[in-house]
This record gives sequence, C-alpha cells and structure tokens, in this order.
Amino acid sequence: MGEPAEAPLLAVRNLVKTFGPVRAVDGVSLDIAAGEVLGIIGDNGAGKSTFLSLLTGFHRPDSGNLVYRGRPVRITSPAVARDVLGIEMIYQKLELAPDLTVAENLFLGEEPRRFGFFADRGAMRARAASVLKTLNTKLKPDDIVGELSGGEQQVVAIGRAVLFERSMVIMDEPTAAISVQKVADVLDLVRRLREAGKAVLLVSHRLEDLLAVADRIAVFFHGTIRKVMPNEGLAVADLVHAMF
Ligand SMILES: Nc1ncnc2c1ncn2[C@@H]1O[C@H](COP(=O)(O)OP(=O)(O)OP(=O)(O)O)[C@@H](O)[C@H]1O
Ligand SMILES: [Mg+2]
Repeated sequence: MGEPAEAPLLAVRNLVKTFGPVRAVDGVSLDIAAGEVLGIIGDNGAGKSTFLSLLTGFHRPDSGNLVYRGRPVRITSPAVARDVLGIEMIYQKLELAPDLTVAENLFLGEEPRRFGFFADRGAMRARAASVLKTLNTKLKPDDIVGELSGGEQQVVAIGRAVLFERSMVIMDEPTAAISVQKVADVLDLVRRLREAGKAVLLVSHRLEDLLAVADRIAVFFHGTIRKVMPNEGLAVADLVHAMF
C-alpha cells in the first residue's frame, strides 16, 4: 500500500465569475500542490487574471468551491487571502513605496499588526538582511527602492512572500517589464520559492519563461481550462498550439 495521497494545498472546483454578460471564469477546476510551480497561459481575455483575482480575494466568485488544506474556505477579501491562507499576490505594477528603503518595503503595512516587536529598526533591518540572503541577492536593507531596477524591485516584492512565510505566491506577468538579464534572476527566485515548499502560480505570455520553471502548465480558453500539461518535453510551439 502506498502513502495516502496528500490533499492539495488548494483545490478549486467549478469556479464561475461573470461581469454582466461576460463569463470571465466559466467553471474552472484545478488542484494546486505545495512546492509546485503552475504556469498559466491563454490568449488575451481568456480569464487568467480574473481567475487569480478569485484566489486573492480581489473579486468574489458567483459560484464554485475552494478547499484549502482539506478545508472549505471562502476568500472574501484580500486580507483573508493573505493573512488567513497565506496567499501573496505580486502585481504587475509593483505596490512598493519608492521613497522607502528595501527593509521598510519588505515590512510595509505589516509592521504594527504582526511585527510589533520589530519596532526596533535594527531588528527589522537584520531580519530584512537575512531574507535578502535567502534570496541570494546583492540588495541591501538600506537601498532606496525607487533607485532600483524593475527586476530588483521584483525581488523586494517576492521577499515579502518569504518574510511572511506565505504558502502560495501568485504572479501575473512578472517578467513582462524587466530586462532580459533580470528575467533569469526572477525565474531563479521562483525556483527558490518552490524549494521552500511554496506553491507558485505564474501567468505569463513569455512562454519560454514558463517552460524554464513550471512543473505543469494550464491553458485557459474563454474562461475555462482547456488542458493542464506536465512540463515534460514541451516546446513553445506545443503551448501556442494548445492556446489557439
Ligand atoms: N472588472 C471587469 N469588469 C468587466 N469585465 C472584466 C473585468 N475584468 C475582466 N473582464 C473581462 O473578463 C474577461 C477575462 O479578462 P481577464 O483580464 O481575466 O483576461 P486575461 O486572460 O488575464 O487576459 P490578458 O492576457 O490580456 O491579461 C475579458 O473579457 C475581460 O474584458
Ligand atoms: Mg491578465
């Protein structure tokens, strides 16, 4: 007898989200495991971002079920997604404060509530330094975020997921706006998150990036998942074929 199958981190069942007459997400079911990178592809308007918004609590589904670590959950707000379930979204337009330091940005919005004992700035900087070391980056806690490149700012955003021990990290087009050289760094961070046991959901139109890091790739089409493919022996042409 084998080990009992471990429950997925998040099981999505028959999720539906409409905007008026538009069925943006039209019956999506998917299991997401801890420690896997799930790539998500699909044409413009296929429903990828809307699907993610249902996991981050930005929108609420019309119907469908979510089961998190074996328990039914309702993700009713971004605070529930983040603080209760540990789902961190890294937005295309990074929500960082350019005038503040890397350390201050890592703790932004979290310091008083959950890290009251870090009011001591020295301790905050030390904690930030250890997170940056985990991520293997040259960034320093006192660097001013507004003076960093897009890719470096991405590292700061991802650092928050490490710092607060999120279970799932969601990225919508993380490599769209950064230099080719920095793309490798971001993909390396994705691998580090997986090694740390986190689930990573990665939406990208850069198919070669997904082929480089994803364990599986889900293909969205008109609000549905057309197929989920293990990333074994796949080429860009296979993904393009699956999308259209
Ligand atoms: N807030 C909204 N109000 C009304 N319609 C919306 C809203 N958000 C998305 N839609 C519609 O839902 C559908 C799915 O959009 P969505 O943004 O999820 O697609 P996507 O797969 O992320 O596309 P892209 O690759 O262009 O980012 C589209 O028809 C879009 O116009
Ligand atoms: Mg989108």
